[in-house]
Amino acid sequence: MGMLMNAIIVVIALVAQFAFMNHPYEHDHHSIGSLARGIVSPDSTPLKDVVAVVTGPTSGIGLETSKTLLKQGATVVGIGRNPKSLAETTAEIEALGYAGTFVSFAADLSDLSAVSSATDEILEQYPSIDFLVNNAGIHYGAPWKTHEIDIASKTKGFDLCFVTNYLSHFLLTEKLLPALEKSTLSDPRIIQVSSTYHWLSDGFSLGTNHPDSPGMPLAAKGDFYDHRHRATAYGNSKLAQVLHTQAVSRRLEKSGSKVKIISICPAWVGTDIAPEGLMRTIVKTFAFTPSQGIYSLLMSLFRPEVKSGDFVGNTDVVTHFPIKEYMITSNLKVDLGGLGVHHLREHFTDMLAQVLMVAQRFNFGWYIQDSSPESYDVKLQEELYDWSSEVSKEFM
Ligand SMILES: NC(=O)c1ccc[n+]([C@@H]2O[C@H](COP(=O)([O-])OP(=O)(O)OC[C@H]3O[C@@H](n4cnc5c(N)ncnc54)[C@H](OP(=O)(O)O)[C@@H]3O)[C@@H](O)[C@H]2O)c1
Repeated sequence: MGMLMNAIIVVIALVAQFAFMNHPYEHDHHSIGSLARGIVSPDSTPLKDVVAVVTGPTSGIGLETSKTLLKQGATVVGIGRNPKSLAETTAEIEALGYAGTFVSFAADLSDLSAVSSATDEILEQYPSIDFLVNNAGIHYGAPWKTHEIDIASKTKGFDLCFVTNYLSHFLLTEKLLPALEKSTLSDPRIIQVSSTYHWLSDGFSLGTNHPDSPGMPLAAKGDFYDHRHRATAYGNSKLAQVLHTQAVSRRLEKSGSKVKIISICPAWVGTDIAPEGLMRTIVKTFAFTPSQGIYSLLMSLFRPEVKSGDFVGNTDVVTHFPIKEYMITSNLKVDLGGLGVHHLREHFTDMLAQVLMVAQRFNFGWYIQDSSPESYDVKLQEELYDWSSEVSKEFM
């Protein structure tokens, strides 16, 4: 079934590839310089006084974002886990001769102590920060292939994906918010690089009242080693980011802060997050390039009409599916005996994601759109925020 699906995707994507050979958007977002000149500074290097913290600058979306900001003169403070990759990235960036300055800090985001130490060092050097791009992320890949991987993080054994994609960025945001408040920009911004794939999660595993895990989100548990946990870990972490955006946005608005926080989805982008092998080849061949993939991210950084709490994507194909109606009923599960219990919402989201990889090519742009119904659940937002805040206290 999976192979057939991939074959169909390849055929349709090939057609799309030819139909959109000279895709106009590939270069369009490079006009970011003029957008920034209109908003930040009329200088030829409009971001020369801007400090942007970017997690995961060594690859894919984080690397492309860093280069784009550096080209316009920004100082990019990159946080990466691997000193060797950081050194290689620094050399690659320096060779480009961009106007901005790239500074790197090593911290494994799955280790909240390391995140905390790196953030303290950053704050010492950069007491005022203008942009925070919470980008770094992992995906376990196909769960049946990755069941051997140890998925317990260095932080209290919490799930690796949950800590890397979400909890580390929660801590980083909490610690850097006072520095963002000091920005001289009229609306400094935090970008959560989430995903439309957050629709996979109904949020039940992110609340603190799960019968299997009272007082702690089930999705945070790294010792929950079954197939379904691995399959849903990414979706849960991405929903957690959107819930976090909403909770922080509410607090910022209440306190009269000028800082905005926005969630984005880059759609399918050809990067190393796709599992090695056929899947990575397909994605790198047919999905958006990183240069296209950062379009919604850049618009979320610079467009004045983007509001705090918004969810911004590179395609709005999903909004044309009767998805919400389906999701309400799709908490249904089917017990197939020896073949296990199948959760329809999870299967449906996976199928839709596969279709999206091709469909997105016909619908590239930047769109402010709805996130999943559960992402607007204030009780869930607050439960997760309070729990995350409690865990983070020790690392503040
Ligand atoms: N590509 C897509 O189709 C897609 C779609 C939707 C959302 N996204 C989101 O986009 C974000 C960026 O992903 P990408 O596609 O650019 O993938 P990528 O090319 O694999 O880049 C991921 C980045 O995160 C870093 N990272 C991973 N684990 C880390 C850790 N423990 N500590 C510090 N850094 C860590 C990686 O560092 P190393 O270089 O050391 O590995 C790399 O720089 C992710 O949050 C992902 O969920 C991607």
